[in-house]
Amino acid sequence: MATALELAPRLTDASRRKVWDVHSAFDWPERLTPGETWFMSPELISIYGTEAFDGLDESARMTLSFYEVVNFFSFVLYGERPLISGLMNRMYRKNTEGPITEYLHHFVDEENKHMVMFGMFCNRYAGKIYPEKKIVLPREYAKGEEDISFFCKVLIVEELGDFYNLKMMSDKRIEPLVAKINKVHHVDEARHLGFGRELLREMAADFVPAWTKEERERFQGWLVQYLLSSWGDFYNPAVYKDAGLTDGYKVRKMALEHPTCRAFRAEASAKLVDYFLDVGLLDARPEF
Ligand SMILES: [Fe+2]
Ligand SMILES: [Fe+2]
Repeated sequence: MATALELAPRLTDASRRKVWDVHSAFDWPERLTPGETWFMSPELISIYGTEAFDGLDESARMTLSFYEVVNFFSFVLYGERPLISGLMNRMYRKNTEGPITEYLHHFVDEENKHMVMFGMFCNRYAGKIYPEKKIVLPREYAKGEEDISFFCKVLIVEELGDFYNLKMMSDKRIEPLVAKINKVHHVDEARHLGFGRELLREMAADFVPAWTKEERERFQGWLVQYLLSSWGDFYNPAVYKDAGLTDGYKVRKMALEHPTCRAFRAEASAKLVDYFLDVGLLDARPEF
């Protein structure tokens, strides 16, 4: 398996070959028509498979799919903002000099374009970006833990996002603009994910064996909480309210506890969890 240092120049080449311009990549329709077409694959809608979803007629489901995709684009955009600043802070360091930093420039460039793309969609068609909910609590770090935590966060937003991108990019039922945004995102993310997985694997091998039992437990507790709270973003009361459902908070609570939704989250997280187990960042599967 190639190391991150070996991967970096190849990924840099690929980024240059596939370079794209966010301002000319899309034809933005004048308006979209919520309620008349799908904007998210119905099976990906946060309350799919629940009584609340079954009780909606098709037009109401389509309207909900519009706000759900606006929410999805909103929190991916907010996930990319600290990602960009974190990547910039890691450029031109002793351990990232040369090809790694060169690739980080492309990583940042692509994430910046993703933010522009998602922001344009949300602002144009929904007139807003749903505000982010995450609060960042101060933490103590063992040696190497701050960088490892940062790349875990990167991987979580990118892997979960990619699960949705992959399903939507080729879904003929949904609005073509949305399918295309998912596709464009997936193509860049495939490189980011390949790089991130390898870099994190190497960092885990370098630092985790030296952590104490308490440090390992503290880290794993944080990682599980972070993953679960990332899933919380998918169940936004404001989305349910905008789609005309009564009591958005109750809908969120119902969906977070619903066995169908929990099984979906476990399935969508499986690749990510397998990876964390494989590289020694988790000892056990979390409960969704
Ligand atoms: Fe992205
Ligand atoms: Fe990315």
